[in-house]
Amino acid sequence: KVPVITIDGPSGAGKGTVSRALAKKLGWHFLDSGAIYRSLAVAVTQAAIDPQDIDAVVRVAESMDLRFEANDPPRIFLGGQDISHKIQTEDCGSTASKIAAHGPVRQALLQKQRDFQREPGLVADGRDMGTVVFPDASYKIFLTASAEVRAKRRHKQLKEKGADVNLDRLTKEIEERDRRDKERAEAPLTVPDGAVLIDSSDLTIDQVIARCLDIIGG
Ligand code: CDP
Repeated sequence: KVPVITIDGPSGAGKGTVSRALAKKLGWHFLDSGAIYRSLAVAVTQAAIDPQDIDAVVRVAESMDLRFEANDPPRIFLGGQDISHKIQTEDCGSTASKIAAHGPVRQALLQKQRDFQREPGLVADGRDMGTVVFPDASYKIFLTASAEVRAKRRHKQLKEKGADVNLDRLTKEIEERDRRDKERAEAPLTVPDGAVLIDSSDLTIDQVIARCLDIIGG
């Protein structure tokens, strides 16, 4: 069986950076499941579909042609169009979290995510990696941090990418998205059984990576 490490947690906890670094260190594949939900949000917006029209969203999810290029930085193509930048905005994250609340949408994306489980191993980043997508994962980590720290990190990250962001507004948007992700009926954001909890509020990225490597005995 191909080994999987799942890293779940809320926005801005450092999952993306940590999972990418871990995958690189181990020479394993990397699944950014949030990018799949974000890409679907882009596809739905471009098709001028109402995000509340779940049947239509599911049809887009089933038919969308997504391609990942594991470059540094990684690139995502939707029907041949490079959407790597488009998926990074908080607007896109917010639409992603609205469509992600629906069971049939999540179901339509399940196999696309499981297809990433290939030799020699996979590091999977998301909200339900350890609970739903890879419940038999070899190692499960739940990475979190205080809401204040997470908003500040995301603010810094978006600003570095040249986005026009306001910390107060971003904090509110992130809190709203967290609430939606935790309270939804389908695959809510929660600590998976058997997961190790890491609070990264007072840790550097390197310290978090070291702790993860400790957990997996690497
Ligand atoms: O990067 P950030 O943590 O802010 O968000 P993301 O991982 O790109 O995910 C964007 C949104 O997609 C989340 O707020 C969730 O609503 C949804 N999502 C999900 O439902 N399940 C996943 N496995 C990953 C993302």
